Amino acid sequence: MIFVKTEGVSIAMRQKFVYVANWKMNSTLNSSLTWVAQNLDELIAISNDAQLIICPSDVALYPLDQFLTSTNIKLGAQNCSSHLAGSFTGETSAVSLKEAGCSFCIIGHAEQRKYHQETDSGIAKKFLHLVENNISPIVCIGETQDEYQEKNTLLILEQQLKKIVAACSEIFQTLSNPIYIAYEPVWAIGTGNIPTKDHLEVVLSWVSQFMRANAPAIQWKLLYGGSTNATNIDYFKNIDLIDGFLIGAASVNFQELKKMIYSGSQF
Ligand code: PGA
Repeated sequence: MIFVKTEGVSIAMRQKFVYVANWKMNSTLNSSLTWVAQNLDELIAISNDAQLIICPSDVALYPLDQFLTSTNIKLGAQNCSSHLAGSFTGETSAVSLKEAGCSFCIIGHAEQRKYHQETDSGIAKKFLHLVENNISPIVCIGETQDEYQEKNTLLILEQQLKKIVAACSEIFQTLSNPIYIAYEPVWAIGTGNIPTKDHLEVVLSWVSQFMRANAPAIQWKLLYGGSTNATNIDYFKNIDLIDGFLIGAASVNFQELKKMIYSGSQF
């Protein structure tokens, strides 16, 4: 949210919503290229009204960059290595991602934490490598179903954010772009379950206060992710602290994504 002065009156204005399309492993190289090629004109029009970040599989990054390089549509990776370079079979460095055309990268996604035992220290290392390579990190945080039921959400988020704010203090002088923090309750990802407005307002206000208190020199944007689609997006758009969305399944379908972007009075 920004405040704009017009004729002496200060009015609150939303910046453009951010839409991060996290295609996970739901789109191949060919289908990613077809998606962008077939919808390029509409995507360019959309990028005047919204900040659109497409996160395909790594192998599709460089070919997509050839299509998107002169547009406002940005490319993001779904992960990066916590190492800078060396003998790390199967990993991709932040340097390579930059060379492939990335300006964003998702880190700490619940699926990486679950299936690849990603730790908060590893995520903080990734954060530093990304910032050093001028890639904006999209840091995912969120509690599991059990943690939610045990009312430990804020405790878990604090653990997840602590190492990130410590990393921020190392590099705040070089950090010219905002970082993105995506609140994704693990129990909402791909399940069709979404948090109540009360829960979201408590969590997002807490994150804002935590960032203001612990990383005052840093600008950030707050995203929500987990089971968003064209039917429920307005519900989230009406929550003031949300700057944008990290969208999984619904983002692979171009028409659905377009409906989400243009749904409601604000887009
Ligand atoms: P979903 O995934 O929108 O399919 O729930 C969100 C995510 O995992 O980023």
